[in-house]
Amino acid sequence: MASGRVLITGGSGLLALNWACAMRGTWDVVLGTHSRKVSLAGVASRPLDLENAGRLTRQVEELAPDIVVHTAGLTNVDRCEDDPALARHVNAELARNVAEAAASSNVRLVHVSTDHLFAGTRSGYREDDTPEPLNEYARSKLLAEEWVKQADPRALIVRTNFFGWGHAGRQSFSDWIVYSLRAGREITMFDDVHFTPILADALAAATHRLAGLTASGTFNVAGDERVSKYEFAKRLAQAFDLPGKLIQRGRIRDAGLFAKRPPDMSLDNTKARDLLSTSLGRLDDYIHILRRQESEGRREELFHAVTE
Ligand SMILES: NC(=O)c1ccc[n+]([C@@H]2O[C@H](COP(=O)([O-])OP(=O)(O)OC[C@H]3O[C@@H](n4cnc5c(N)ncnc54)[C@H](OP(=O)(O)O)[C@@H]3O)[C@@H](O)[C@H]2O)c1
Repeated sequence: MASGRVLITGGSGLLALNWACAMRGTWDVVLGTHSRKVSLAGVASRPLDLENAGRLTRQVEELAPDIVVHTAGLTNVDRCEDDPALARHVNAELARNVAEAAASSNVRLVHVSTDHLFAGTRSGYREDDTPEPLNEYARSKLLAEEWVKQADPRALIVRTNFFGWGHAGRQSFSDWIVYSLRAGREITMFDDVHFTPILADALAAATHRLAGLTASGTFNVAGDERVSKYEFAKRLAQAFDLPGKLIQRGRIRDAGLFAKRPPDMSLDNTKARDLLSTSLGRLDDYIHILRRQESEGRREELFHAVTE
């Protein structure tokens, strides 16, 4: 799909804001909000009630999008561990409501899933590998995938791990690294945790292309490169001319985190690359774009885009 109207749930979230910025030049973007308000140039926003599939169907029909992108979720892994019922409700039950509404309105659905579904004992997980969730966040996201497939078999389910500029109330992983180093603070980054990060804009662009090719089912839309969190921070520091010597190597097994995390979350993106006939992008290119986005005002714009 090259243009039309896209309705994005979780409109005040990190991914939705960057997705909106990436698409607002070509798409009519509507951000569906929950408790916080969003104000972003060239983008509409509208409160969306995900709690009831019937009411949501009516809202979707009124808004008449060509595509719904479901990004809303409870993304704090330790909070999910602490309250599994809430994680299941927000991540799985609301996703099912969105899928039911999309199916009854005959609107194409993109459901955003995660790279967190596996035990992480090896690298390059494929779409048909058997998930082995280690924590409540992963269990709730896996259940969401199952329920979305049942409610809307045409849905496109995208497994990913992304970065981009956040807002004042939601720092992204890359924000945290850049802001810490700019403030001269030492940070410890795991060199025993690996992932395949993609820039949020690249994720949005590739997903719209997949949706345009009427892809459905599960796709890994992740970066081409597998790196450790330590390596990611080092590359970011280099590209942003920040002092890399402030980055210390750490190990997740020494960190004493509340919820268990998979040490390797890397995804194999061959299926998406083959269908799109293109690479999904190298990390240094994404980081270069992130830096350019800052000089063009994206960081500043998003920082102030969300209010309580
Ligand atoms: N961040 C990552 O690196 C990452 C990696 C892999 C996958 N993902 C997936 O990508 C998606 C987007 O992540 P994100 O980091 O952009 O999320 P985020 O910044 O934490 O934003 C979450 C959004 O969900 C909304 N929300 C929370 N509870 C809700 C409820 N009960 N009803 C309706 N909306 C609700 C929030 O609205 P309010 O602020 O108004 O409450 C917010 O807009 C999630 O599905 C996540 O699982 C994220």
